[in-house]
Amino acid sequence: MKAGLDENYWNNRYINNDFGWDVGEVSTPLKEYIDQLANHELRILIPGAGNAYEAEYLSNKGFKNVFVCDLAQEPLSNLKKRCPAIADSQLIHGNFFDLEQSFDLVLEQTFFCAINPTLRKSYFEKMHRILKPGGKLVGVMFDAPMNTDTPPFGGSAQEYETYFAGLFTKHTYEACHNSIKPRAGREIFVNLRRI
Ligand SMILES: C[S@@+](CC[C@H](N)C(=O)[O-])C[C@H]1O[C@@H](n2cnc3c(N)ncnc32)[C@H](O)[C@@H]1O
Repeated sequence: MKAGLDENYWNNRYINNDFGWDVGEVSTPLKEYIDQLANHELRILIPGAGNAYEAEYLSNKGFKNVFVCDLAQEPLSNLKKRCPAIADSQLIHGNFFDLEQSFDLVLEQTFFCAINPTLRKSYFEKMHRILKPGGKLVGVMFDAPMNTDTPPFGGSAQEYETYFAGLFTKHTYEACHNSIKPRAGREIFVNLRRI
């Protein structure tokens, strides 16, 4: 690999305060998407959630069925302290690729770029398995060359399309207009509907 993108690797990055990807609050693209969701009953998953400000934001807005999944325990414990209203059963300490539950909506932010690029097709296949028919995968993905040996791994919108063809249709798949400043011009906003 890319070896060692495992639980220890990620947990140590949190313990050592080495988490430059963490924006400290719900990011603008995710916030603006969440703000137009009306159905508070949706089962929502945030995989590779880290400190999961989106989960906190959703919970504070009255969404009850918000699940986060992360290999690292440290950020899950941080979230629990900030947001005790989220039930322990909704804080999934484990591997996204092992999830067996199903969801209406998955929110993506800097998880896809953190996994080994060899797993990208599997990522979309797994999303297809855990989303209900008509369910959505929504969020931001980098559309820029980045690291090749360590996260964040870059890529292109064109490349990603080859992985989800036949599994998802595109509702929105375009340059992100409301990225946070350091990511401006390097992200696409994706809203993909599970076939
Ligand atoms: C770059 S961080 C992003 C965290 C968060 N989404 C954010 O934007 O702050 C990637 C996260 O994915 C988690 N992760 C990596 N591989 C994972 C996997 N296979 N299953 C679940 N979580 C994983 C890491 O522990 C880390 O918290």
